[in-house]
Amino acid sequence: MIKSMLVTKPLHFLILLYVFIWQVCDTVEVGSAMASSGDIQVKELDKRASGQAFEVILSPTAPDAKGEFPLSTPKKKEVSLDEIQKKLEAAEERRKNHEAEVLKHLAEKREHEKEVLQKAMEENNNFSKMAEEKLNQKMEANKENRTARMAALNEKFKEKDKKLEEVRKNKETKDGAEGEN
Ligand SMILES: *[C@@H]1O[C@H](CO)[C@@H](O)[C@H](O)[C@H]1NC(C)=O
Ligand SMILES: *[C@@H]1O[C@H](CO)[C@@H](O)[C@H](O)[C@H]1NC(C)=O
Repeated sequence: MIKSMLVTKPLHFLILLYVFIWQVCDTVEVGSAMASSGDIQVKELDKRASGQAFEVILSPTAPDAKGEFPLSTPKKKEVSLDEIQKKLEAAEERRKNHEAEVLKHLAEKREHEKEVLQKAMEENNNFSKMAEEKLNQKMEANKENRTARMAALNEKFKEKDKKLEEVRKNKETKDGAEGEN
C-alpha cells in the first residue's frame, strides 16, 4: 500500500499521518506501528522552498508487500554471507590455479632458455674445437711442407755439390794429364 502526500508544513503532515494510520490500521496500535520501521516507511521525496513531499509506505498486514522493502531479513543475510564466502573461496582457488599456471609456464620457459643456452655453448665448443683442429692440421701441413721443401732443397744442394765435385775431379784429372805432357 503506497500513498503519496504533499504537505506544506511538517506538523500538518504528522497530524494527517496519525489520522491516516488510525483509519487504515484499526487493529494496530499507532505507537508500536511507528516504532517498527519494518511496518511504516517515510521517505522524503523532494525538498522545495514551498514545502516538502513525502512518500508514506504502510504494510501492517499485507504479506505480498514485503518484497517492496529494501531491508532484508536475517535469514537472507546468512545465505548471502555463505554465498559471498563461497565466491571468495572460488576466486582464491582460481587465483591459486592461475598463479601455479604462471609459475609452471615460467619454469618451462627457463628450462627452454637453459636448453638453448646449453646448445649454443655446445655449438660454440664444437666450433672452437673444429677451428683448433683445422689450425693444427694446417700448421702440421705447413710444417710437413717446409720439411719437405727443405729436404728437397737439401737434395738439390747435394746434387750441386756432387756435380761441383765431379767438375773439380775432372779438372784435376785434366790438369794432371796436361802437367804430364
Ligand atoms: C658437437 O659435437 C658432437 C661430437 O663431436 C656432436 O655429437 C654434437 O651433436 C655436436 N653438437 C652440436 C650442437 O653441434
Ligand atoms: C708446399 O706449399 C707450396 C705453396 O706454399 C705448394 O706449392 C707445394 O705444393 C706444397 N708442397 C707440399 C709437399 O705440400
